Amino acid sequence: MSACTWESGSLLPLSLGPSVCTTRSVELRLGAACRPVVLAKDKNKLVILSEAKDLIVQSFAKASPSSRAKCVASLRLLAYHLSTPLRSLCGKFSPSPPMNTQPLAISPTDRLFLLTGAGVSAESGIPTFRDSNGLWCNYRFEDVATPTAWRRDPQLVWDFYSMRRRDAAHAKPNPAHQAIAALQHRLDRLFLCTQNIDNLHELAGSPRVLHMHGELFKSRCESCTRPPFDDAQLYQPPAAIPRCECGSQIRPHICWFGEVPYDLDEIYAALDACTIFLAIGTSGTVEPAASFAAHAARRARTYYVGPEPPVNLRVFQQCFLGKAGQILPDLFAAP
Ligand SMILES: NC(=O)c1ccc[n+]([C@@H]2O[C@H](COP(=O)([O-])OP(=O)(O)OC[C@H]3O[C@@H](n4cnc5c(N)ncnc54)[C@H](O)[C@@H]3O)[C@@H](O)[C@H]2O)c1
Ligand SMILES: [Zn+2]
Repeated sequence: MSACTWESGSLLPLSLGPSVCTTRSVELRLGAACRPVVLAKDKNKLVILSEAKDLIVQSFAKASPSSRAKCVASLRLLAYHLSTPLRSLCGKFSPSPPMNTQPLAISPTDRLFLLTGAGVSAESGIPTFRDSNGLWCNYRFEDVATPTAWRRDPQLVWDFYSMRRRDAAHAKPNPAHQAIAALQHRLDRLFLCTQNIDNLHELAGSPRVLHMHGELFKSRCESCTRPPFDDAQLYQPPAAIPRCECGSQIRPHICWFGEVPYDLDEIYAALDACTIFLAIGTSGTVEPAASFAAHAARRARTYYVGPEPPVNLRVFQQCFLGKAGQILPDLFAAP
């Protein structure tokens, strides 16, 4: 117990670089309760801001030893990810990189729902949505990823998706995609739903992938019922906008902002049936995917994998903090 409390004003000594102060608010699970924690990086120290610290100390007094241990482990990992290397936590804990992850317990009757986001492809070199070097630093989504943008300037839209096709063409699946594909081959009852438009799950060997936001290497007619078709072409000037046999323009097979994601009926049926829900590398900010965890949580165990807690952390029972390519091979290891 004493190892889990923080002394008033306690600071976590760190060796950090420049004296920038950044803060990060997170929620830490203690048994059934979630507590807000603000971690601040201040010069060469990591600080738990006092109000949150008092709350944690009070919660610790009531929590069971196992939830105290989990809480400390989470906090240590958060600290690790906020700023490394962490030398000690209140002098009580030794430096610790992310711990070895135990394989997820999956029974023969469990049904898994895996939701992947941009983070699962980050280690393949495809920037996430909100990275500092992410896509939307160079483009405004209103100009290239909405139906209005398409009506206003289809050439600019095709410029953007041609650029993304070119960048994604050389990307290779990483250990996270491979671990998911291997698990899918072991388990029939696994529903893989991705928000990603790249084809890295398929390249890793995943047999069934539902792309709720469409596919980068497919196109479709903007008006007739011709089904989406494989298309890796680049349509940049001087190439003209491609046309369908019906005369209408061919557009990227992408669910733009303001459009309804694909196959939602199938997705909600799988969410209703699942007993384990696992989100990987998704910030929990884009709807409706951000609400899938809360929907599943009514009946399923819920887990998150990613280097930082998602916005919707409170709906997850457990959070594995780290890169998907490092955590998933252990999490999905055969028992
Ligand atoms: N690869 C792609 O197809 C791609 C790329 C960028 C954006 N998008 C689109 O952007 C939208 C944004 O939603 P989102 O939540 O998927 O992306 P997001 O950018 O909002 O969030 C990405 C998340 O991934 C996490 N992350 C970063 N590196 C990681 C790693 N190595 N392992 C695990 N997690 C990691 C980040 O902490 C963050 O929480 C989606 O609709 C998606 O279609 C797709
Ligand atoms: Zn057509």
